[in-house]
Amino acid sequence: MQAVQVHELGGPSALRLVELPEPEPGPDQVVIEVHAAGVTFPDLLLSRGEYQIKPELPFVPGSEVAGVVRSAPPGAAVRPGDRVAAFCGLGGFAEVAAAPLEAVFPLPAQVSLATGAALPMNTFTVHFALTRRGRLRAGETVLVHGAAGGVGTAAVQLASALGATVIAVASSDEKRQAAKEVGAQHVIAPDNFLAETRELTGGRGVAMVVDPVGGDRFTDSLRALSVEGRLLVLGFTGGEIPTVKMNRLLLNNIDVVGVGWGAFWTRQPGYLQQQWAELAPLVADGRIAPPLGRRFPLHETREALMQLEHRQAIGQVLVEPR
Ligand SMILES: NC(=O)c1ccc[n+]([C@@H]2O[C@H](COP(=O)([O-])OP(=O)(O)OC[C@H]3O[C@@H](n4cnc5c(N)ncnc54)[C@H](OP(=O)(O)O)[C@@H]3O)[C@@H](O)[C@H]2O)c1
Repeated sequence: MQAVQVHELGGPSALRLVELPEPEPGPDQVVIEVHAAGVTFPDLLLSRGEYQIKPELPFVPGSEVAGVVRSAPPGAAVRPGDRVAAFCGLGGFAEVAAAPLEAVFPLPAQVSLATGAALPMNTFTVHFALTRRGRLRAGETVLVHGAAGGVGTAAVQLASALGATVIAVASSDEKRQAAKEVGAQHVIAPDNFLAETRELTGGRGVAMVVDPVGGDRFTDSLRALSVEGRLLVLGFTGGEIPTVKMNRLLLNNIDVVGVGWGAFWTRQPGYLQQQWAELAPLVADGRIAPPLGRRFPLHETREALMQLEHRQAIGQVLVEPR
């Protein structure tokens, strides 16, 4: 099969298209013919050796896929021929991938494989973030940074579906339009987001900030919270990992909440399928439908990753091996 490998930790430009044997499934693994693979920020970090997981070289990146089941363990709920989405962690930028059975999700008939490939990483992360870590309640107001990106669009869409009002922060008109299309009631630019958030909330601030960006907007994000507000820390695309002055937390009765989806579900057997039981109806009726960005053939995986590297991605970028 054809696959894209990282041979050296040189970022997207060091990726190579190679011929490899198809993956041999372990005892609890499902083998999937990959039709689409989602391109995520962790794939970019992995290609540079900057992610918390450091696989041995060479490796095939690609953490989420959708396609058709080739083989499944005996007694599994999915069978050869089923259309599924899956979180494979690694190995997704290939014609065939293997994923653990617990991370394979049968797709409703009306949901395309392209949409399916956009679900596992960002939608599941955001579901964990908003519901479990952030305890979001209907009627609350949520501010989302990086709102046109993969995590951002998922957060805007799910928060809206759960009955929140969403203020989306994004850096260009095109990105703000994308955030609006997935359900943001208000869209603002990063430069002056604190003052605009205060104005939009009548001075009260927001109940929750979803932050995949970090960097120098962090302190203003804390200032944007209302009493008992929660700032969810998801990532640091802005570069710098911020620090917190603890007095801000006690003076304003606010929480900074870490969100590490992978670190959670890998220690909680059954959690992913619990998440899918809640998400599948929203996906089936279209309330969760990640906006799809640019789509690339397998041999252009490096260009796909560069979209994220150069801050150009809008919605979910995909690689389509077939
Ligand atoms: N904690 C978890 O469990 C978990 C799970 C999945 C992903 N993540 C993390 O979440 C973060 C976002 O991932 P994503 O897939 O949403 O990425 P993405 O699609 O590339 O979006 C990231 C957004 O960050 C903003 N940004 C600000 N400065 C940037 C810079 N220098 N370079 C690139 N983007 C910049 C951009 O928005 P503007 O241009 O509008 O500012 C961009 O749209 C990553 O750090 C990823 O590792 C965490």
